[in-house]
Amino acid sequence: MSEGGAARGPITGECHEAQVELVEQAVYCTGYPTMQRCFTLTIVRHWALRKKLFTISYQQSAAMSTLLINQPKYAWLKELGLSEDNDGVYNGNWGGKGEVITSYCPANNEPIARVRQATMAEYEETVQKSRDAWKVWADIPAPKRGEIVRQIGDALRKKIKVLGSLVSLEMGKIYVEGVGEVQEYVDVCDYAVGLSRMIGGPVLPSERPGHALIEMWNPVGLVGIITAFNFPVAVYGWNNAIALICGNVCLWKGAPTTPLTSVAVTRIVAEVLEQNNLPGAICSMTCGGADIGTAMSKDERVDLVSFTGSTHVGKMVAMLVQERFGRNLLELGGNNAIIVFEDADLNLVVPSAVFASVGTAGQRCTTTRRLMLHGSIHDVVVERVAKAYKQVRIGDPWDPSTMYGPLHTKQAVDQYLAAIEQAKKQGGTVVCGGKVMDRPGNYVEPTIITGLAHDAPIVHTETFVPILYVLKFQTEEEAFAWNNEVKQGLSSSIFTKDMGRVFRWLGPKGSDCGIVNVNIPTSGAEIGGAFGGEKHTGGGRESGSDSWKQYMRRSTCTINYSKDLPLAQGIKFE
Ligand code: UN1
Repeated sequence: MSEGGAARGPITGECHEAQVELVEQAVYCTGYPTMQRCFTLTIVRHWALRKKLFTISYQQSAAMSTLLINQPKYAWLKELGLSEDNDGVYNGNWGGKGEVITSYCPANNEPIARVRQATMAEYEETVQKSRDAWKVWADIPAPKRGEIVRQIGDALRKKIKVLGSLVSLEMGKIYVEGVGEVQEYVDVCDYAVGLSRMIGGPVLPSERPGHALIEMWNPVGLVGIITAFNFPVAVYGWNNAIALICGNVCLWKGAPTTPLTSVAVTRIVAEVLEQNNLPGAICSMTCGGADIGTAMSKDERVDLVSFTGSTHVGKMVAMLVQERFGRNLLELGGNNAIIVFEDADLNLVVPSAVFASVGTAGQRCTTTRRLMLHGSIHDVVVERVAKAYKQVRIGDPWDPSTMYGPLHTKQAVDQYLAAIEQAKKQGGTVVCGGKVMDRPGNYVEPTIITGLAHDAPIVHTETFVPILYVLKFQTEEEAFAWNNEVKQGLSSSIFTKDMGRVFRWLGPKGSDCGIVNVNIPTSGAEIGGAFGGEKHTGGGRESGSDSWKQYMRRSTCTINYSKDLPLAQGIKFE
């Protein structure tokens, strides 16, 4: 996400209007019995108030009885240990004395269940318990830590379908994508198990006789993980599995709009820790909003803050962490382009563009937002992509045949409409979609807009919705320059058969992104590579390759095993 847009996974704790309403009702209902009695007296005298109170209590009881979790159709939620009201704090013990939030299903805006978030006192207690747990965890040899991560992966495997279904219900992405992101967590666990026997530094040649120069890698300590609504399992998984084998403990704050997924995942992980007689606080969780996110960013005891979300909020996190010289790992917005050259195989281009722009309803940080087409193939590709858009099966995200579900929140629907308005004002033509759909839930039509200038403000803005801007270019130089001229630098793809062009694209004057693809879409990265991007994307790298280094501190160690004291650079100090 870019500046000004609604974030994925903010520390700001955005929520639905209806959600606020229900939270207030729940607080009213449980916390203020005297006030309730007082209201009861008032209704005798004031019809208007009586009507209002009736409405409130009606809505309240409706909300109670219609929680999806109570409907037989959603009984499977209980397999994840979820109930009507769930503890949103875990630190070896479960708790949650803070604000009660209701989680809504984006496909129908019906309440699923509630979560009790952390108070600041519970946050304090959890950080303390996490730090205590670190003393135990850091002493366990890395391959043994890997064995615990292996068990976490296995536990996730057993629940992959039911957890994927919860992601689909709560986040709104289609079922296969929900399962797919649990698969990413499973895969990164496997990856981390192997890594637990491989991490380490080199022994370097010392210039001094009788000296050894070695690099030691030690865990940073406590890793705070703040994740976004759009990948409520996978992004935690990337951080958690790698941080754990490195010898860190984790404290997780998921997005305030996907709290049930955070609770369900933590239940699975906690069971593994508890079965191994390890402190549960090795993997703690404090559900909450901006208060918890800010506290983690400011807290000197949180050695690394890994934040995934908007560029806007990421910048605030980065400043707070930097102020205390802490470490951060940022996975922020993207404004990803697919560039299609005249020699491209259009049979690869069309499904790639559709998957990367329509998939997850445009709510991946790797979503294709700009489709740059060479002038000679522009019209034919627009026509074919638009035709494919019309064949996308829209429906309930958990229906196996659905390809496209709702946006996560109502606010996102507003942003979608505002972006389309701006695009039109800036000279764009809507060739496909452009409207909110007439059905329950936050459904909007996947949209294609042509005719905008490559540097139109809306094209340079990441709106986290399924709008694809199609741009027409003539030369390679121009296309590469347009790819790089946006503030973000996450993912990018070209479609071509020209090998020279491929290597120019990968080289110093090619794409400036963290993910640079050829003949595949911008989204759908594998866990084995380092995931992240440059510039306003934040510079962090997670998951595969040497991303583990971000979770460790390096010491350069020189050991003198001689009886002399030669100084480096041949200095004589006598
Ligand atoms: C994100 O959108 O925050 O590459 C992560 C992809 C996924 C991860 C996206 N594997 O699209």
